[in-house]
Formats: sequence, structure tokens, C-alpha cells
Amino acid sequence: MILEQHHQQRRMFAALDEVPASETETLAAVWKRLEILLETHAEAEERYFYPHLLRLGSGAADAEGVDDEVKDAIKDHNEIRDAIVKTHDHETGSEAWQKAVLECRIANDDHMAEEERQDLTDFRRHASLELRHQIAMKFIRYEALKAATGVPPVDKDPEEYVEHPPRGE
Ligand SMILES: [Fe+2]
Ligand SMILES: [Fe+2]
Repeated sequence: MILEQHHQQRRMFAALDEVPASETETLAAVWKRLEILLETHAEAEERYFYPHLLRLGSGAADAEGVDDEVKDAIKDHNEIRDAIVKTHDHETGSEAWQKAVLECRIANDDHMAEEERQDLTDFRRHASLELRHQIAMKFIRYEALKAATGVPPVDKDPEEYVEHPPRGE
């Protein structure tokens, strides 16, 4: 589910490339939808995925351990959220707006690559198919509930998150 949503995010950034800068209504609509995808995906991971990863994982690929893996992911989510907020300061389609969108894309591309290589690998190795299914259903429910509005892009403290993670329910 998470990997599939990463593909959706890549496709939406690619779709933005296809829209001429003068078509601001289209740009604003596509960007709004992508913003909601990014925000709800990150929040769903923080609510339903990372708490279980912290419990079951051991760190995969080039991660030093599971705490390191998750702290890094929260830090990345904060960067993505900050970049989303920055786009709101500029007129849609303007050079400054394009730059802010690019910043978000770079932060998200870097994050997805690392998350796929570390966090998702770690979870595939340690979590049961049943748990993976349950989490996917929680993602579907949460994202459907928030599909129209998104969620406010509020940063989280990575250390605090790893010390006191949500219960994953
Ligand atoms: Fe993700
Ligand atoms: Fe993520």
C-alpha cells in the first residue's frame, strides 16, 4: 500500500510537469490534490505504520537501527510538510511557487527512496501478512476520511516520537 502510494505521488509530480505555468487553475487543483496525498500519507504512516515498525523492526539496509530509521523518516516528513507550507506563500505558477514545489519534490523523492530501502524492507522481513493487511485497511479508512480536507501539516519532534510513539491503532 505504501509503495503503491509512493508511485501515485511520483505520477502526480510528473503530471504537474505537463501543465503549462499559465494554467494556474489546473496547477492549483493538481497541487492541492497532491498536497492532500502527501500530508495524509505521512500522517497515516506516523499513526499506523511506524509504531509497529518500532516494535518489530531491527533496521534494514544502511540504517543503523530501527530508532534511527524512524527518526530519520519523521525528520523527512517535517521537511516535506515545511516545503508544502512554503508553497502557500507564493502565487500558483510563479517562479517562487515552482521553486517551492521543486523543494517539496526533492525532499519527498529522497524520503521515499530511503523509506523504501530501509523502513519498508525492515517491515517486510519482520511483520506478518495479517498485520500488513490490517495497516493497509487503516490507511484506506484514514485517507478516505481525510480525502477532501487533508490534515494540517504539523511537524513532530523525531526524538519524542520514537520515545513515545502512538499505539498504532
Ligand atoms: Fe511513505
Ligand atoms: Fe514517509
